[in-house]
Amino acid sequence: MALRRAAAALSPALLVVVVLLLLLLPAVASAGLSSYFGTKSRYEEVNPHLVRDSLSLGPAAGGSRPPASCAPLQLRALLRHGTRYPTAGQIRRLGELHARLSRRPAAACPAAAALAAWQMWYEESLDGQLAPQGRRDMEHLARRLAARFPALFAARRRLVLASSSKHRCLQSGAAFRDGLGPSLSLGGHEVEVEVNDSLMRFFDYCAKFVALVEENDAAMCQVNAFKEGPEMRKVLKKVASALCLPVEELNADLVQVAFLTCSYELAIKNVTSPWCSLFSEEDAKVLEYLNDLKQYWKRGYGYDINSRSSCILLQDIFQHLDKAVEESKSSKPISSPLIVQVGHAETLQPLLALMGFFKDDEPLRANNYVRQTHRKFRSGRIVPYAANLVFVLYHCDQVKTSKEEYQVQMLLNEKLMSFHHSNKTISTYADLKDYYKDILENCHFKEECELPKVNITAVDEL
Ligand SMILES: *[C@@H]1O[C@H](CO)[C@@H](O)[C@H](O)[C@H]1NC(C)=O
Ligand SMILES: *[C@@H]1O[C@H](CO)[C@@H](O)[C@H](O)[C@H]1NC(C)=O
Ligand SMILES: *[C@@H]1O[C@H](CO)[C@@H](O)[C@H](O)[C@H]1NC(C)=O
Ligand SMILES: *[C@@H]1O[C@H](CO)[C@@H](O)[C@H](O)[C@H]1NC(C)=O
Repeated sequence: MALRRAAAALSPALLVVVVLLLLLLPAVASAGLSSYFGTKSRYEEVNPHLVRDSLSLGPAAGGSRPPASCAPLQLRALLRHGTRYPTAGQIRRLGELHARLSRRPAAACPAAAALAAWQMWYEESLDGQLAPQGRRDMEHLARRLAARFPALFAARRRLVLASSSKHRCLQSGAAFRDGLGPSLSLGGHEVEVEVNDSLMRFFDYCAKFVALVEENDAAMCQVNAFKEGPEMRKVLKKVASALCLPVEELNADLVQVAFLTCSYELAIKNVTSPWCSLFSEEDAKVLEYLNDLKQYWKRGYGYDINSRSSCILLQDIFQHLDKAVEESKSSKPISSPLIVQVGHAETLQPLLALMGFFKDDEPLRANNYVRQTHRKFRSGRIVPYAANLVFVLYHCDQVKTSKEEYQVQMLLNEKLMSFHHSNKTISTYADLKDYYKDILENCHFKEECELPKVNITAVDEL
């Protein structure tokens, strides 16, 4: 009797607790999964302080201030476009999956019922376009860069703005420019965004890459093997069971669509959708690895041609640095103090590989998932939405530094990178150029990208 009274007294409080827990659960779940979204990661994943203040330079700002007695001469920023909508193909597959789940009686299956109740709001016409959040990504990035390098972004400095021809990149370039605002009038003219696909989409112009990697299914054998492997099978079984579906009705691609939708809903709408509740953190790690495997073999160290095809971009970067050094030496004004170029994850990843960053001792393969737990090659950390690689050339006062006059720093996603040749976050321009001398001198895009005369179809010939 006493027990029952106690229970009756407790139950409203208990109910409140249970309801609160249920309300909080999605937020907790999303926080757990969001660091595994790979190339669909929000920029805030690599700079969490931006969640509180999107204009803050963050806790590391002090450490990445320009070195003492050095003045920046030139800044080159390579950007990935901001948060975007899914592509038409992804939207079509999602529509099919959603329709399939909605048709089934789902009374006994809460996960399926929740997904059936979810409203499919993506339309194919959104096809990879920049989302409103993507505009904000770019505007805020522009304002933070201007705050970090006020001398370079001062009024009347010339801004060269180039972009890939993709709509989301052009829109990102325009949003970046708008973020600089009228106070940074940059000469008072609207800066045109120039299209330059040969620099921003070099991969499209490299016949060898297109034929042997992009359009060659055999080149993705590690990715395909992982889709069929034990880790993915386990994820498939769990998702099938949550949806009360026979596992044969699912495959890795469908599960990936569900996971992508979880990531898109968070990045675009800042909500945790019921799609996320299909996955545990362990599942998310497996799906992240699948995404990284694809990046690795298609854009990273997997095949030499992936990164070699970007040498034209590295060459262009050094040509502009050279020019700025020459102009500085002859006391001329710097003709291009600010160069901002907007491209894709597929633009940045090969370039970073060409420069030797994020290289693991072992290649990423279908069968070494566990050994790659602490890998360097995590796309979500390297190329989230609005990813940015910034080269800053400084002119330094030799008397005070007793160092070389010209120095360079590199920042990835607004954090200083350590150079490979020195492990330091600043390098003399001469040392940096010397380190990449071979690549710069032997970069012959045309020859590099020419298809071999003999038929090559086997992957090991790549
Ligand atoms: C793209 O950039 C390259 C390297 O700076 C340049 O040679 C080429 O003329 C540019 N193309 C266009 C269409 O502007
Ligand atoms: C996103 O949602 C979280 C949690 O609901 C909230 O704290 C945050 O302010 C939202 N962010 C934006 C940019 O709306
Ligand atoms: C760079 O630093 C890392 C970590 O501190 C160290 O393991 C590595 O040996 C260093 N490399 C060089 C070239 O000094
Ligand atoms: C290359 O392969 C194609 C199709 O398999 C064949 O028709 C062609 O003769 C081959 N060329 C050479 C040079 O082997």
